[in-house]
Amino acid sequence: MQRKRPLRMTHTATNHQSATGIFVPKELKPLKILIINGPNINFLGIREKNIYGKTSYNEICDYLHEEGEKLELDIDIVQSNIEGELVNYIQDAYGKYDGIIINPAAYTHYSIAILDALKAVGIPAIEVHISNVHAREEFRKVSVTAPACIGQIAGFGIYGYIMAMEGLIHRNIDI
Ligand code: DQA
Repeated sequence: MQRKRPLRMTHTATNHQSATGIFVPKELKPLKILIINGPNINFLGIREKNIYGKTSYNEICDYLHEEGEKLELDIDIVQSNIEGELVNYIQDAYGKYDGIIINPAAYTHYSIAILDALKAVGIPAIEVHISNVHAREEFRKVSVTAPACIGQIAGFGIYGYIMAMEGLIHRNIDI
């Protein structure tokens, strides 16, 4: 899903020193963030509403685009039920995105391929889970993909994606 209009320029990790000695952004550009959602996330609003809520996937995507714009981020969102396609999304992000927010869904718990892909591209990534995976079945407490991420956010519903956006912004601010 593509955003609808260009965004204001803001964050940059590439500052340089001006003639006056003041550090200024070399190139003003919005942070490009790719949100990747795994299997059954497209069924939000339909699946296990008591756990994942009533809001539909499309409504959630709209909300994430809106919130991303407020944070002056350039957000793209993709979703697949297929492990190899998720690997392709991660590989295709190489050289194009400054950060990844990923909810690998069930693949979290066993996809070495997604772990390897995240490690391969080296793009700062944050793993998000809508539910608190640590308060559910034992198998959900294990994430094989989180070791390739800066960190993991779980249990805050859809707001977890916004928290991850803010995490990536802070990660990219040059001090
Ligand atoms: C999930 C948690 C996973 O265990 C589960 O397989 C999902 C969704 C979450 O966002 O809470 O599909 O990733």
